[in-house]
Amino acid sequence: MTRVLFVCLGNICRSPIAEAIFADEVEARGLEADYDWDSAGTGGWHEGETPDPRSIAILAKHGHNWRSRARKLLVKDLAEFDLLVAMDRSNLADIRGVPGADASRIRLLLDGPVSEVPDPYYGGPEGFEKVYQLVRGGVLKLLDELEASRKSA
Ligand code: 4NP
Repeated sequence: MTRVLFVCLGNICRSPIAEAIFADEVEARGLEADYDWDSAGTGGWHEGETPDPRSIAILAKHGHNWRSRARKLLVKDLAEFDLLVAMDRSNLADIRGVPGADASRIRLLLDGPVSEVPDPYYGGPEGFEKVYQLVRGGVLKLLDELEASRKSA
């Protein structure tokens, strides 16, 4: 079982999109027994809230449902998840700053020419389509990589 935690700042815009795409892709590939997943925010302002309505809308437009309410990243997440996947460098630095953090388990979602998923919170709805496309590409590549390393293990 590989446990993956998607992390952004508020856990209402970017990481819920990543979580929903990952979950749907894992289920589409019939890999539910092999993966567990969740999302969290480095900040706790939106604890308990559903995702931002703009995230729910962009997910729905692309055929996905949101999966979980917002929660704050916990110290124990660093031990309980095999991989913590940050949306931007600020999230990455915040996760790496948690006491006891194992840097080898913490990475950015994107590793191409665009390496960060921009925070869409203060922008317009077009920002959410961009986030969706970036996140989708990153999540599918991540799952392909995880499957390749699982099969070669
Ligand atoms: P997210 O976006 O990190 O993608 O969920 C944000 C949501 C809320 C805030 C910042 C970013 N906020 O400052 O409340």
